[in-house]
Amino acid sequence: MWTKIACIALFALIYCEFLADYVQLSQCYWQSPKPANVGNKNEDELRAIIIADTHLVGPIRGHWLDRLYREWHMHRSFQATMQIFGPDVIFVLGDLFDEGDFVNDSDFQKYVTRFHRLFSPPSGVPIISAVGNHDVGFHYKMDTYFLNRFSKHFNNTGVEMYTIKGNHFIMINSMAMLNDGCGFCNAALRDLKNISEKLNCLENGHKCIDAKTLEEHKKYSRPILMQHFPTYRKSDAVCREHDAPEMEVYRENWEVLSKDSTDLLGALLSPRVAFAGHSHHYCLSINRFGIEEYTVASYSWRNKVEPSFLLAAFTGSSYAVLKCNMLRQQHVYNVYIASVVILIATIIVLIYRRRDKRRMKT
Ligand SMILES: *[C@@H]1O[C@H](CO)[C@@H](O)[C@H](O)[C@H]1NC(C)=O
Ligand SMILES: *[C@@H]1O[C@H](CO)[C@@H](O)[C@H](O)[C@H]1NC(C)=O
Ligand SMILES: *[C@@H]1O[C@H](CO)[C@@H](O)[C@H](O)[C@H]1NC(C)=O
Repeated sequence: MWTKIACIALFALIYCEFLADYVQLSQCYWQSPKPANVGNKNEDELRAIIIADTHLVGPIRGHWLDRLYREWHMHRSFQATMQIFGPDVIFVLGDLFDEGDFVNDSDFQKYVTRFHRLFSPPSGVPIISAVGNHDVGFHYKMDTYFLNRFSKHFNNTGVEMYTIKGNHFIMINSMAMLNDGCGFCNAALRDLKNISEKLNCLENGHKCIDAKTLEEHKKYSRPILMQHFPTYRKSDAVCREHDAPEMEVYRENWEVLSKDSTDLLGALLSPRVAFAGHSHHYCLSINRFGIEEYTVASYSWRNKVEPSFLLAAFTGSSYAVLKCNMLRQQHVYNVYIASVVILIATIIVLIYRRRDKRRMKT
C-alpha cells in the first residue's frame, strides 16, 4: 500500500516541480525572420529571449510563500527555457526587483545575488537588463544613490547601445525620459543624442566615427528599442493583440512614456521594432511612430495569471517574434488536487480490500 501511495505522490511532485515546464514550453518554437531581400539571405540570425517584470519579492512587503514557491517556479521556467531554446542573449525589461527602490544596501546585495541564482544563463550567454521603476524608483524618487547601485551590477541607467550580430539594441531608462532638466534626464538625453549621431554616421558613410566605435558597431541597421515603459498609448484597447483583463487608461510618465518623449525617441533613433514591460500584460501594438511594439507580460505568477515571454529572432534587416505561454499556477494546483483525490481513493480502495481479505480468512 505504502509504495503505491508514495508512487502517486512522487509522480505528482516530479511532474509539477520539474517536468511540467518542459511540457508547456516545448509547444513554443523560434520563428525565422524572413529575409527582406535576396542579398541578405546569409545574414546571421540572433536569437533572444525577452522577459519582463520578474519582481523578486523584497524583505519588507514580500510574503515568504511567494518567495519560496513562485520564485522557484520562475527559476524552473527560466532554466527549462535555456535548455529547450538555447538563446544567444536574454533581455530583462525592468522591475527585476519589487523593492529595489527602498531596501538598504545589504538587502540590495542579497537581491542581486538571488537574481543571478534564479536566472543563470549558460556561460557565455549575456543577460542584459533594463532598469524599471521598482528597481530605482519613479522619476520623482529616483536619485543617483539608487541609480549607481543598480548601474554597478546591471548598467543601463541612462541610454546605452549594444551591438550583437549586426543588431543594435538601445536600452533606455524610461524614468529618465522626462526632459524636465533634471540631472539624470539631461545625462540620458546627452547619451541619446550621442547614439543618434553614431547611428547617423554608420548610416551615411563612416567618416564621422572614430575607429573604436566603428569596430564596436560595424555597420548600420535600424535599431531595436528596449525599455521598461511602453511608448505612449492611450490604453491596451489600441493593441492588435492583448491579454489584459481590463482596459486601464494610461497616464503619461506613469504607465507609459509621454507623447513628447515618445516622439523624440522615434525622431532620434528611427527604430524598427520596440519592446517594453511595466503593464504586466502582453500587447502587440503599432506605436505612435508607426512600428510594431511588443509589451511583455510579467514573468511572475504574482502579477499575471497567464505569464509569458517572447522568443525573438533578429537579423540586421528583419525580425520574427513569438509569444510563449508559460506554465500556469492553476495547472500545477489542479494536478496536485487531482493527485490528492487519487491518493484518497487509492487508500480507501486498499483499506476495503484488506478488510475483505481478513473477513474471508475468518
Ligand atoms: C537592512 O534592512 C534589514 C531589514 O529589511 C535589516 O534586518 C538589516 O539589519 C538592515 N541592514 C543594515 C545594514 O541596515
Ligand atoms: C557593464 O558595462 C561594463 C562596461 O561596458 C562591462 O564591462 C560590464 O560587463 C557590464 N556589466 C553588465 C552586468 O552588463
Ligand atoms: C559620444 O560620446 C563619447 C564620449 O562618451 C565621445 O567620445 C564621442 O565623440 C561622442 N560621439 C558623438 C557622435 O557625439
